[in-house]
Amino acid sequence: MAIAKFLSPAAASLPAAPHHVAIVMDGNGRWAHKRLLPRIAGHRQGVDSLRRCIRACVERGVRVLTVFAFSSENWSRPEEEVSGLMELMGKALANEVPELNRGGVAIRFVGERASLSPRMQQSLQQAEQATAANARLLLNVCFNYGGRWDIAQAAAQVAARGEPITEESLGRHTALAHVPDPDLLIRTGGEYRISNFLLWQCAYSELFFSDKLWPDFDEAALDEAIAAYGARERRFGKTSAQVAQTTG
Ligand code: IPE
Ligand code: IPE
Ligand code: MG
Repeated sequence: MAIAKFLSPAAASLPAAPHHVAIVMDGNGRWAHKRLLPRIAGHRQGVDSLRRCIRACVERGVRVLTVFAFSSENWSRPEEEVSGLMELMGKALANEVPELNRGGVAIRFVGERASLSPRMQQSLQQAEQATAANARLLLNVCFNYGGRWDIAQAAAQVAARGEPITEESLGRHTALAHVPDPDLLIRTGGEYRISNFLLWQCAYSELFFSDKLWPDFDEAALDEAIAAYGARERRFGKTSAQVAQTTG
């Protein structure tokens, strides 16, 4: 996939828009529970919320959106929920590709694929191919993804090539090496943890925690996160005075 197009900001993007936003979409189960609905109803609502969020990110000039859809650890949920989530992913893939194409969104899946069903693997690949030419937003869907898995698989690739293990060589083989690290990492659902999301890549991401459950995370909530991001000073280990010198 030609990904160089996602390496620099779009001309139209607002100055305050983060280039890369990552989201732990948490709280679907509680959203359903509050309404006496089965958990899968919350996940279904979560797909609607993601559709809205993608559109809002495109409008705000975000170029890369990376979402946590299913973690390596989520396999340990009840079988009924896991199979429901797999089915939902299959359906969403079948339904959403035309909308992604209309919005200029390229989709890419990030995570361990070998343990997914052959049918699911094929659906992921088809969705990637069908949207590969789009250039407004790259949507990375982390599916069967874990930050520790990512670091370990990168190390295994480096070792297999007989290259020395350095930050540069490891980083080059991590699953999100095709995009710059997230600028803003949002977690919804009121939990203050990373839950094995982008452990390598979030080293210098600005963190924003929202109490809203993922299905309730709307445009206003996204704007609040982006505004908070805009008010942060990113120092990357330097002093404030140094940062003022380079940006002023
Ligand atoms: C996040 O919502 C979606 C997945 C993990 C697949 P949850 O299902 O974790 O929702 P809560 O945290 O139980 O409310
Ligand atoms: C993180 O949420 C994974 C996804 C959103 C896909 P979890 O609900 O699995 O996280 P924990 O278990 O509360 O840490
Ligand atoms: Mg949760």
